[in-house]
Parts: sequence; C-alpha cells; structure tokens
Amino acid sequence: MVSRVGFEPTTPSLRGSCSNQLSYRPAHLVYYTKVLRFWQAFSCGWIVYNKDMQIAFYIFGGIVILVAFLFLFTVFTGAPYVPSSPNELEEAFTKLYKLSKKDLLIDLGSGDGVVLKVANKHGAKALGVEINPLLALFSRWRFRQNPQIKIACKNFFKMDFPSETTAVYAFGDSRDIKKIAKLIQKQATKIGHPIYLISNAFEVPGLKIQKQHRAHYLYKITGGKDED
Ligand SMILES: C[S@@+](CC[C@H](N)C(=O)[O-])C[C@H]1O[C@@H](n2cnc3c(N)ncnc32)[C@H](O)[C@@H]1O
Repeated sequence: MVSRVGFEPTTPSLRGSCSNQLSYRPAHLVYYTKVLRFWQAFSCGWIVYNKDMQIAFYIFGGIVILVAFLFLFTVFTGAPYVPSSPNELEEAFTKLYKLSKKDLLIDLGSGDGVVLKVANKHGAKALGVEINPLLALFSRWRFRQNPQIKIACKNFFKMDFPSETTAVYAFGDSRDIKKIAKLIQKQATKIGHPIYLISNAFEVPGLKIQKQHRAHYLYKITGGKDED
C-alpha cells in the first residue's frame, strides 16, 4: 500500500504497516536516499578497506589532476585550448588567404590539429607547434600517415621557422598577439621573405590589416618592418 500511494512514513516503527501517516517523504526521495547510502557504503568501504581499490583510486585521481594541469598551465604560456571552426577555416583559406601546395603553414599552438587538417586539404604543407604534450601526442597520432603534416611539441616563442614558411595561423589571445607578430617579423628577417599572418579573433595593434573575413584577419609581415 505504501508504494502504491507513493509515500512512506518517516517514523521507523510505522514503516510498512501504517496507513495513518502523520509525516511523509515522497517515494522518489526515499529511493534517492537509499541509492546514496548504498553508494557511500560501497565506495567508502571499498576504498578504505580494499588496498587495491585505494591504489586505483589514487592513480585515477593523479591522472585527472595531471590532465587538468596540462590544460590549465597553457594559461601562463599563451591561449588555452579552444579549437577553431572548420567551416570558418575553410573560408579563411579560400577568401582571405588562398592556400595552395606552394605554401607551408605553421599553426602556432596547434591544439588538436584542426587547422593543419584544413590547410592540408588545400594542398599546403603544415607544421603544428603545440606546448601541451597530450594534444601534441594526439595530433601526431591523428596525422601519423600524412607526411605533409608535422607536429612539434614546444613553446612557439622559442622556435625558428623553416625557411619555406609562407603563412602562419594564430588563435592566440589579446595578451600575446603583438608578441606573435614580433616573432614572425624576426623570422621573416631571418628567412628573407615576407610571411602572411592569419589571426583568428584578434587584431594586431598598430599593424595594417590586409583583409578581414568574419573573425579572421590577414597581415603581411616583412622582415625589419611591417609591410602594408
Ligand atoms: C586557442 S587554442 C588554438 C588551437 C588551434 N590553433 C585552433 O585554432 O584550433 C591555443 C593553443 O595554443 C597552445 N599554446 C598556448 N601557448 C603556447 C605556446 N607558448 N607554445 C605552443 N603552444 C601554445 C594551447 O595549448 C592551445 O592548444
């Protein structure tokens, strides 16, 4: 009768026998409480008293903390991981800067490799530079059978560009975009030809925009000075 009406007396002595209930708890709350108690007993008992479970629990916790750390520490080195939209990339690589097989594009902070994939679809060679080892590992595995796409796991502020570099993609943040433009300028001086910068979402202060399409900006950066 108790389950049929959906209520159960909270007074233990009345439970299961009494229809003259003075206080009620809805049946679903009783159910949730039972599940919660079972889970508490199960997990605490297991974790505290079972040595193997304790070890597994610590290993799992350690992995979760490590992964969270790897994704959070990029806040100090540059932009956190947020992928660009493949559709917007398609448009940027056709309407803003027409990528072709003559290009070598570097993605500064390549995340999961979406930029490299779209760039390569247009025939370009692509180099991703990613500081997060998990993302670098994932994209290396993703493009393991494509010799035209390479991934370097390093800080892009501490690298030299290959001499064939023609274009750079950056989805950085407002704090870094000026520093990125300076890096490209230094590398353009070194390799002796201009490099195009395609910046997602952020304008470079003080640099003339060549073209804009949606959230993407195109700049042409030459060594020594910024070209318009
Ligand atoms: C906003 S996400 C962009 C990912 C990818 N470029 C895209 O557009 O989909 C920025 C990426 O840059 C990486 N990153 C941040 N600072 C970096 C640095 N100094 N060197 C290399 N990678 C960096 C982050 O780990 C993150 O994956």
